Amino acid sequence: MCGIVGYIGHRDAFPIIIKGLQRLEYRGYDSAGIALFDGNQINLVKTKGKVEDLRNKANSISNEGTIGIGHTRWATHGVPNDVNSHPHYSNSGDLVIIHNGIIENYESIKKELTKRGYTFTSDTDTEVLVNLIEEVKKTEDVKLGQAVQIALNQVVGAYAIAVFDRKKPDEIVVAKLGSPLAIGVGENEFFIASDASPFIEFTNNAVYLEDEEMAIVRLGKEIKLRKIKNDAVAYPRILELQMNLEEIEKGGYDHFMLKEIYEQPRAIKDTYRGRLLADQGIIRMAGIDQNLEKFMNANRIIIVACGTSWHAGLVAEYIFEDLARIPVEVEYASEFRYRNPVITEKDVLIAISQSGETADTLAAIKLAKEKGAFVFGVCNVVGSSIARESDAGAYTHAGPEIGVASTKAFTTQITVLTLLALKLAKEKGTFSETEFHEFLTELETIPSKVERALEANPLIEIISDVYKDSTNCLYLGRGYNFPVALEGALKLKEISYIHAEGYPAAEMKHGPIALIDEHMPVFVIATKKGHYEKVVSNIQEIKSRKGKIIAIVTEGDEQVKELADHVIEVPETLESLSPLLTTIPLQLLSYHIAVMRGCNVDQPRNLAKSVTVE
Ligand code: F6R
Repeated sequence: MCGIVGYIGHRDAFPIIIKGLQRLEYRGYDSAGIALFDGNQINLVKTKGKVEDLRNKANSISNEGTIGIGHTRWATHGVPNDVNSHPHYSNSGDLVIIHNGIIENYESIKKELTKRGYTFTSDTDTEVLVNLIEEVKKTEDVKLGQAVQIALNQVVGAYAIAVFDRKKPDEIVVAKLGSPLAIGVGENEFFIASDASPFIEFTNNAVYLEDEEMAIVRLGKEIKLRKIKNDAVAYPRILELQMNLEEIEKGGYDHFMLKEIYEQPRAIKDTYRGRLLADQGIIRMAGIDQNLEKFMNANRIIIVACGTSWHAGLVAEYIFEDLARIPVEVEYASEFRYRNPVITEKDVLIAISQSGETADTLAAIKLAKEKGAFVFGVCNVVGSSIARESDAGAYTHAGPEIGVASTKAFTTQITVLTLLALKLAKEKGTFSETEFHEFLTELETIPSKVERALEANPLIEIISDVYKDSTNCLYLGRGYNFPVALEGALKLKEISYIHAEGYPAAEMKHGPIALIDEHMPVFVIATKKGHYEKVVSNIQEIKSRKGKIIAIVTEGDEQVKELADHVIEVPETLESLSPLLTTIPLQLLSYHIAVMRGCNVDQPRNLAKSVTVE
């Protein structure tokens, strides 16, 4: 969590770092800081609050310098305040560091350093690390790069760090274990960042560090990469980036979340483009084609993920079992990794993650691999840790998702998993050629149907106004739309801070029905295909207890209209594809309610986009 940015070259570092931090604010935004070397000294400023607060505060110091590092924080050790913000100095004031991650054994290192006379101004593990580097540098009489390497061999934890020395301001040393770190390689200049977005307008060439690698970027020199554990040299793997600036800017929308909701027709199409050849009746996906027998011989599929990605996994459970008749278990990665699960070589584990960096999901993958399972990753961020750690996988191709609340990642994850289930259904013969063909043809209509679902936006804004002051909400759905109910509730609570719960509609009478009175809005997914009559009965039960009913229905529905306080229509489709449509109005409802309540939609409190700590 936390975003890091660094620059060394011939340009002014300040605007590059500030802009870069703003692009990385999705990773954490409770405090921020920057350190610049102006030719004589390091000028450091930090503050609790957003990068914008940092920019304002930084006006009071010299902003000059062509080398610098900056940080936007999601607090782990120490409350968010000015002192705990990064960068951190070493005791001598020579070294300055930024860090994304956690040093787990910092207490014992701190004790040792304290005995040797070091003092600490913050509560952070990072200040301990920079002083450990300083101590090693002094006692071993080594250069900064070596000091970093020796120090990192003494720490336990996760990190992406960048550190430089006031006395040798022509180089920055960076290292990675568990947290992402990319180096942008320009003409006699280097950019350092948690992802490539801070430097995309300057260079398309990037090196992504692997775990346990470090690099020294020195002015006028080639980038030097080596292993942290030993002195083996690693060769820089310079990748050409596909990202463009437009993708990471708001493009006229008020918020990234709204932009990303509206991008879904395009994103879903990009997800199946080149993979779904409906006219030839083929699904082509390299990650599956090359490993088909693993799936075909699997005893079961285990899906691991967190949050919204876990909800996509729940939808996938219905699709795999329904279409391909393969048993599926869906697990929270955080529970799975710690409960000694039974995993065999005949299991296939599918890990779903937008960021590809979620610590618990990554740990679940490592565990499954140790036990011999085949791991298939479904990630959005290209080159991310989960994508690299998986045996094979498929990208969602949603494009950068910057709003902290996941939207287009969810629908594109479902799209990839649907393609996978369909392909297996065809191979296993659980689907006839005709069914397969009809399904593919319907899937191709989804982007335009999502566009139609988005047309309800003005009505949704009106409905949002009615319920914006609610304190509790229920979300109900059955079958394929039960996970959509969970996702609708998560979207509302995370960005508007209204308490919301999702339930399978039939479970309502086993407890939650006691909550229903005239103040309780109940969002019910009641599309025509999929237990329609049963959901209508649930709606009757809510109505007779005076609950407010907001129903997501199939276009032209009359029956629910009679009962509900509000209906929002989505186009008709197959039951198994309906989550791709029913989720759209729920995303828009959460968005409008959050905006009306004055919440920070793109950066909700306490959250971060990329959860690289467990
Ligand atoms: C909610 C949300 C989170 C993420 C979760 C997993 O809108 O975004 O619940 O889905 O933190 O993140 P990834 O998919 O990056 O592993």
